[in-house]
Amino acid sequence: MTDADIYPVPTNWAKDARVDAETYAQMYGRSLADPGSFWLEQAKRLDWIKRPEIAGDWSFDEQDFHISWFRDGVLNVAANCLDRHLEKNADTVALIWEPDDPAAEPRRFTYAQLHAEVCRFANVLKAEGVRKGDRVTVYMPMIPEATFALLACARIGAIHSVVFGGFSPDALAGRITDCDSSVLITADEGRRGGKRVALKANADAAADHAPALQKMIVVKATGGDVAMQPGRDIWYHEAAAAVSADCPPEPMNAEDPLFILYTSGSTGKPKGVLHTTGGYLLWCALTHEVAFDYRPGQVYWCAADIGWVTGHSYIVYGPLANGGTTLMYEGLPNWPDASRIWQVCDRHQVEILYTAPTALRALMREGDEFVQKTSRKSLKLLGSVGEPINPEAWRWYHDVVGEGRCPIVDTWWQTETGGHMITPLPGAHALKPGSAIRPFFGIDPQIVDADGIVQTGNPAEGNLCIAKSWPGQMRTMWGDHERFFQTYFATYPGYYFSGDGCRRDTDGDYWITGRVDDVINVSGHRMGTAEVESALVLHPLVAEAAVVGFPHDIKGQGIYAYVTLNVGVTADDDLRRTLAQWVRKEIGPIATPDAIQFAPGLPKTRSGKIMRRILRKIAEGDTTNLGDISTLADPGVVEDLVANRVG
Ligand code: WTA
Repeated sequence: MTDADIYPVPTNWAKDARVDAETYAQMYGRSLADPGSFWLEQAKRLDWIKRPEIAGDWSFDEQDFHISWFRDGVLNVAANCLDRHLEKNADTVALIWEPDDPAAEPRRFTYAQLHAEVCRFANVLKAEGVRKGDRVTVYMPMIPEATFALLACARIGAIHSVVFGGFSPDALAGRITDCDSSVLITADEGRRGGKRVALKANADAAADHAPALQKMIVVKATGGDVAMQPGRDIWYHEAAAAVSADCPPEPMNAEDPLFILYTSGSTGKPKGVLHTTGGYLLWCALTHEVAFDYRPGQVYWCAADIGWVTGHSYIVYGPLANGGTTLMYEGLPNWPDASRIWQVCDRHQVEILYTAPTALRALMREGDEFVQKTSRKSLKLLGSVGEPINPEAWRWYHDVVGEGRCPIVDTWWQTETGGHMITPLPGAHALKPGSAIRPFFGIDPQIVDADGIVQTGNPAEGNLCIAKSWPGQMRTMWGDHERFFQTYFATYPGYYFSGDGCRRDTDGDYWITGRVDDVINVSGHRMGTAEVESALVLHPLVAEAAVVGFPHDIKGQGIYAYVTLNVGVTADDDLRRTLAQWVRKEIGPIATPDAIQFAPGLPKTRSGKIMRRILRKIAEGDTTNLGDISTLADPGVVEDLVANRVG
């Protein structure tokens, strides 16, 4: 690496940012040396009904495995995100909503208005029988009511489980059933890129396979024609008209569950990541303030979907806990054209933008004119999340979008971690395109080799583990605590294993290299290869399937499926299209395979294990370097796979 690849902290940031290099060193050091007092002090940024006296109480050891933070504290998340701002900031705009259609009017909600909306929503839930601890599934488009719904659950102590609006009825039904949720909040339809998304129709189809479901609360978003089932379905606007806007927040223990969010793992069905109340909220609030150097009054836009953890932590909980102004956008970054994202920045004078590399790569391809015809003068800081950002996209973000004046904050974290884990702080760290730079307060990253040996010294490369608990850590997998332990703590005893590969350079800066397990990161969305495989083998003509990731220019990784058909079935392009559609219908559009190769046989060891290493190489087009194939039951299949590669 040359010096030209290092971007020093700009002088004004070093001078004015909340955390400069010295403060970072001092705070980071204290957070590891004396976590108890460090975190009890940080906890003061929240409004507690009963202030905690215990910080972290945890052990990653199998014998004594437990994780808790602030377990003697009592608070309410919605009260922290709303009520406590009312005294001074009732008229501050909390939420700006930018509609899909650029000609439609944005909506704005002050803290006072948002508070009233959330209380009303909470009373509707109560009227439908929802109580503390009940699970409520949320299947919503990107409309303000989605935010109301989350905070309404938090207000009454119900556990929300948001299912991304792009998931299929089957995927939705599976998630409703897994957490035994009797209430679903949805909308008639969503809008995205000028098209309508049939959410209510999908929810109806899901309900047929989700016996636990008893009530559906339907928000009228587009006014589209939908069927309402009497006794089960309720229009939100009708129910809301019948309740008051006064709803006291439920006192919650810091360790009471706040939400479940399903995410893909390397094996089996999606797992319900569970986050709790106190530690999670503190983590969101602190990271949002420090990593983005957020100041109340600034318009902040996280362009994620509320269906992913980024939407939870950084559209809703972090910014609102900080009394900020959060922008929520209904549509797509490149619709009606590739200027839209920058036009939204201009329209609302966005100062901080947080988006994903996949969006940047897609926009970059359209050419700089789409950016340059907008002003973007309001932008001060640019964030990135979801996948490794390639240096080319990083430089484009920095030079073209930010005109060289905005630090790029590349935040590495996961659904499981609740919020940022490794990220530069804009006033403290010199930047390097593609590096997530340094651990956040309290985070003790360790790079471990395949044998579990911790790599001390720099440079180092291996698997990324975290040696100590942090407040935002997930607490369990819904309904399967044993799987929680096995998935994250069994591989390297005493450590949380992230599933990511990582390099630490000679300066001590961290570079995330991508997943080392069977999870593919498609456009910043996690997809388990096992999920796509099970969808494929459900098709009556398919005998067997193996799925791997391969490098994709825009998506980061694409989905490559090897499919063995039943004997006598003709393999042709029609069937290829049919199977791609099939997966789309089974899981959702994000799971659609980019390439399907028909394979008479898959490379298996004598014990029947598919050797994915070989399949990955072939999908990548790296067929000259397949390594040792002598352990295969039938090395002959490899030749056919190489010859019929799709690319
Ligand atoms: C990847 C999204 C490199 C990583 C917040 C992780 C990243 C997975 C970055 C989690 C980044 C996320 N640099 N890789 N800045 N951010 N990842 O659960 O592989 O949807 O394990 O959480 O995304 O995805 P998840």
